[in-house]
Amino acid sequence: MIKYFKAVLRTFSWVSFPKIVFFISLLTANMMFPLMQVFSGLMQKYLVNAVEYQDMGYMTYVYWLAAGILFMVIFLNPVSTYLGNRAMEIFKKNMREMSIKKLMLYRYSFYENYQTGDLILRLRENLDAVSGDWSLSWLLLGLFYGGGSIVVMLTFNWQLSLLVIFLCLSQTFIMTKLSKRITENTEILQKIKSVQNQMLFDIIKSISFIKMASIGRLIRERYYKSNDEAAKKNMEINKINVVLNAVGDIFEAVNILSVFGLGIVMYLNNMIDLGSVMAFLFLQDGVNYMLGNLQGFLSGTRAQIVNYNRISELLNQEAEENDDKSIKLQNDDIIVKDLYFKYQTSESNALNLINLTIPKGKITVIYGESGGGKSTLIKILLALYPVQTGNISIGETDYAQINNTGIRDFYAYVGQSTYLFYDTVEANIRCNNETATLEEVMEAAKFAQAHDFIMQKPEGYQTMVQEHGSNFSGGEKQRIAIARAILKNANAVIFDEATNAVDMKNESYIYDYIQKISKRGKTVLIIAHRDNAKLLADNEIRIDRGMLVDR
Ligand SMILES: Nc1ncnc2c1ncn2[C@@H]1O[C@H](COP(=O)(O)OP(=O)(O)OP(=O)(O)O)[C@@H](O)[C@H]1O
Ligand SMILES: [Mg+2]
Repeated sequence: MIKYFKAVLRTFSWVSFPKIVFFISLLTANMMFPLMQVFSGLMQKYLVNAVEYQDMGYMTYVYWLAAGILFMVIFLNPVSTYLGNRAMEIFKKNMREMSIKKLMLYRYSFYENYQTGDLILRLRENLDAVSGDWSLSWLLLGLFYGGGSIVVMLTFNWQLSLLVIFLCLSQTFIMTKLSKRITENTEILQKIKSVQNQMLFDIIKSISFIKMASIGRLIRERYYKSNDEAAKKNMEINKINVVLNAVGDIFEAVNILSVFGLGIVMYLNNMIDLGSVMAFLFLQDGVNYMLGNLQGFLSGTRAQIVNYNRISELLNQEAEENDDKSIKLQNDDIIVKDLYFKYQTSESNALNLINLTIPKGKITVIYGESGGGKSTLIKILLALYPVQTGNISIGETDYAQINNTGIRDFYAYVGQSTYLFYDTVEANIRCNNETATLEEVMEAAKFAQAHDFIMQKPEGYQTMVQEHGSNFSGGEKQRIAIARAILKNANAVIFDEATNAVDMKNESYIYDYIQKISKRGKTVLIIAHRDNAKLLADNEIRIDRGMLVDR
């Protein structure tokens, strides 16, 4: 329980929302139903006694209690419920905003360590569960109803009250023991679910390969297996819940029978008035209700703690250092000095003592064996990985003096495969220059030889990109990527094996473009396997096994 409150308070402390309004309305809204019930119990007592003892004086109390109930129903309850829900909505909204903001700030390596399926599960299911958590409300409702009932019962008769409390405590004890196993199963279930999510992603992403290699049966069986496991866990949880419910029902029956029996005996011995016995029957329901809720709260929070922990783990990752040191960089040589780099997960260095200069306004080609470290170098240049040892500078300005956004703004990047967002072609080209006009977008597309094929699509620049950009060919996607790069108008353009997936015609488009931008004074860095690229080179660098090789 303490763990749960800690988790809730920690989460609340991250997010801004009207906390005081939330807590006050939480208290008020959950006090209404219990108060109405307790008032009704009292009303019953006075009504029965008015009849039993033929005394209309009791009726005054009844009228006052009825007026109180009306005021709560018509005014207090709706207002506090509305305010509470509103605060909760603001919490949800801000929580989502914060998680997406944090995700954008995380280091690149974070995304290499987390599986997509698991991430989505955390961001959807766990986040939804946390931001739609009504456990506190349940708890308060139970406590107020039960607590209020006990106080009133004690003023009626302490012996009967003690009996009720004793029965209830035994119930809580047994229920708590039983609900422990629910947490363990929920945790396992979460793991299975993230594996399943990952499988679904893999299936959707690789559907053409699965069909062509006809490995559908294999994939299906893997999915069935984990699905069986999930179903088994769910059934176990259901079983525990059924037992919990049955135990709860048995206790309820025993409660009513023993309280009624003892109450009547006491009435016959003139130890209690009849109105109070009737009210007891009504009010002991409050204690039962409290226990039900407490039990629900305990088993619920066990599952909720899992959700809170998964969310806080996700939101507590180390973010990139990205201060506001925004320097507008002029085009200049890119200088790499004594650079070493080691991946966290690997034993040896991926880069060793790299010293090189990529001259401004020139075309530099980096080539070398597969696994040599070319892409690693590019990722460090683009600040996806931090400089571990050595340093990189643009002219006189060291990377350490520039924030990551500043470094990345210096470059435009065209990779081997182009990711197109689910949006229009225009939006895809414009994505790194939001203020560009449609004319500028078209200009860039013309420069990248993309305008013609875009215009041939039925909706031109407004054509929606389908899943995986499947309504464009590899070469077309590449030219859209080049249009993007042109529109970004960065000082240096990096082509990471950009011609690997395209035919000779597209390759020559790309080389054309490279020469044109180089003439405009842009720095060009090409990573290439094919020798053709070397024909363009003003400058060649070879990297093998993490080291520079002299030609
Ligand atoms: N995220 C990573 N974690 C651990 N090791 C990695 C990671 N990425 C790459 N490596 C390793 O670092 C070395 C250099 O990889 P890199 O991708 O830089 O090679 P490359 O020169 O681009 O090769 P290719 O021409 O095949 O693209 C390889 O041995 C690779 O296995
Ligand atoms: Mg590579």
